[in-house]
Amino acid sequence: MTNFNVTPNRRDTLSVKWTLYSKDILPMWIADADFPAPRAIRDALHRQVEHGVLGYEEPSRAFNEIVARRMNSLYGWKVNPDWIICTSGVNNGYYIAARALCSPRKGYAIQTPVYNHFHELGESNRIPKRIAPLAKLTQGNKLRYEVDYDALKKALKGAGMFLLCHPHNPVGKIFSRGELTQMARLCIEKDVTIVSDEIHAEILLGGAKFKPLASLSREIADKTITLIAASKACNVPGLAAAFAIIPNEELRKKFHAAALGMSCEISILGLTASRVAFSGKVDSWLAAMRRHLTSNRDLLVDYVTRYMPDVRATVPDATYLGWLDFTQTEIDGSPFEFFLSKAKVALSDGKKFGEESAGFARINFGTSRMLLKEGLDRMRRAMGGL
Ligand SMILES: Cc1ncc(COP(=O)(O)O)c(C=O)c1O
Repeated sequence: MTNFNVTPNRRDTLSVKWTLYSKDILPMWIADADFPAPRAIRDALHRQVEHGVLGYEEPSRAFNEIVARRMNSLYGWKVNPDWIICTSGVNNGYYIAARALCSPRKGYAIQTPVYNHFHELGESNRIPKRIAPLAKLTQGNKLRYEVDYDALKKALKGAGMFLLCHPHNPVGKIFSRGELTQMARLCIEKDVTIVSDEIHAEILLGGAKFKPLASLSREIADKTITLIAASKACNVPGLAAAFAIIPNEELRKKFHAAALGMSCEISILGLTASRVAFSGKVDSWLAAMRRHLTSNRDLLVDYVTRYMPDVRATVPDATYLGWLDFTQTEIDGSPFEFFLSKAKVALSDGKKFGEESAGFARINFGTSRMLLKEGLDRMRRAMGGL
């Protein structure tokens, strides 16, 4: 069984996480964990490489049945294997969706703060971005976010797509059934297609439960493109493999047409890893990984509460990402710059998740307990508390 507190040295690899900054910087930014992938996945990859021929491969009917069975066994969601289309990543999936559903006159709605690439989608494609900020609630030093339905309603006006992040990066929220239903109702009323990015769905913390949006009703499924991948939970994001589940035939055809020329291909190794992950063979590894991440989340929240009382923090239900609010502290200017220069810790800069989040930063706790503690100690020292 993997010991999640033993992390391989990644400094001498081409890891983006570990090489973007100089060697004195502890990287706690990009959503990439420091754990080796589950043994069963690595064994399957070895076998594939040993076969020797690494040609083009495509998901077969049998492969799509494995994915469909997983949706049924985890969520009771009956997916027809014909609804599944592979993409070379979840980002690739919503870029294709935007090509199918948006234009310079028809934008897309997002709920901020949200994953930086959701912002870049509009900027790089000249598609108007329509922002519906989440409502921020604070209780003591804990931060929580809720849907602002009025803001969402406004943002959906003139939008071709609502790009939902569920579970939400960076705030770690799993939307409730009630919230999902109400958001979907607004989209159906306004004839806006929902693209639900569910890449973090299997990184559940502390017994949290997850339901895919499209599993709630046939009517909602008909209006939804669901994007899934094994990449985050099994920590194989570099293998570039993801899947779009599109029950509505017309929408599926549109997606297919928009995918032409957008490298909607999947790598043979990505397909191999996904097959093992979705088959359920690594479920006990996933359970252990969730226990480790839950304990890291608790360490993070306890540490902030105890030693950084002016910092507010989310208590994420999912993901290995914490969202920290430094606006009540004495840090002047960007917390990202502050911790990079004074603590030698690279967080993710809050302003990349939304203009209103300049005083925030995201921390990645998908690492060993020791490195998490080291990062927090460095931050505490830089703030004058150690
Ligand atoms: C919400 C979300 N969507 C998509 C991605 C990227 O997915 P992929 O590497 O499959 O393109 C990430 C990575 O951090 C993410 O957090």
